[in-house]
Amino acid sequence: MVEALSTGSELYEKGEAPFLRAENIHKFYGSVHALRGVTLEVWKGEVVGLLGDNGAGKSTLAGIIAGAIPKTAGKIYIKGREVEINGVQDARRYGIEMVYQDHAVVDVLDVARNIFLGRELVKPGLIKLLDMDRMKAEAEKALRNLELRVPPDREVKFLSGGERQGVAISRAMYFKAELVILDEPTAALSVSAARKVLDFVRQLKNSGIACIVISHNLHHVYPVADRIVVLSRGVKIADMKKEETSIEELEEILVTGKAPNSNSKGA
Ligand SMILES: Nc1ncnc2c1ncn2[C@@H]1O[C@H](COP(=O)(O)OP(=O)(O)OP(=O)(O)O)[C@@H](O)[C@H]1O
Ligand SMILES: [Mg+2]
Repeated sequence: MVEALSTGSELYEKGEAPFLRAENIHKFYGSVHALRGVTLEVWKGEVVGLLGDNGAGKSTLAGIIAGAIPKTAGKIYIKGREVEINGVQDARRYGIEMVYQDHAVVDVLDVARNIFLGRELVKPGLIKLLDMDRMKAEAEKALRNLELRVPPDREVKFLSGGERQGVAISRAMYFKAELVILDEPTAALSVSAARKVLDFVRQLKNSGIACIVISHNLHHVYPVADRIVVLSRGVKIADMKKEETSIEELEEILVTGKAPNSNSKGA
């Protein structure tokens, strides 16, 4: 008897397809060829550290996956099915949330409003009044889940950099994201705040949420990453499981900008 071919989503359910596969992605900004055929996979609950020099194409790749930047060519698969991501709302519908370093949150709004930004809870009835009490109560729960001790009615401008990242991550968790992308989340933070952000990443992972953590600093992502991907001038030069490499080998790759000579370069 001929066995029916499994569809992509069946493969995902069986754990045989990644949550995300961005395949052969190209991006031109005018004449700048910022991504030159990059393929990136992220499996359910996996933490991928995305590293590379200034201008390597990290934010561009992340922006394409999160629907913020249109790709020039390539394919995106979510849970084994090819999809079109034509905007941030599309990406969110597929469970992808990006946390930006510069504008992770809106300063003049309080914590609760930030968590529900664009997806506000309203009271039942003809006139859509915001349900502030419920948003506060739900925000409090979301913050508690992340062990983040900030009051939901505090304006975000009074929070530290680490706490702001926490609010953005609470938002992603509350809306049940399946992949959270953090672009340079630790860049401007003190050592202890950076450590707190990495704790958030561990908590995401423990709840089965996958993460892409973008950084310049190998030491910031190495402790939390399951896999490290290195971009150099728009090309993927390394894609290695943490247990297949070492911090020394990765440092060498980052410094030289050259692929390792072993066969560990990924798909
Ligand atoms: N909006 C844009 N218009 C034109 N060129 C752009 C634009 N955004 C990025 N680029 C170029 O594309 C390339 C990749 O940029 P990208 O921001 O993705 O790099 P990155 O790896 O995130 O760098 P960094 O570590 O400095 O944040 C760079 O050469 C950059 O100058
Ligand atoms: Mg960047």
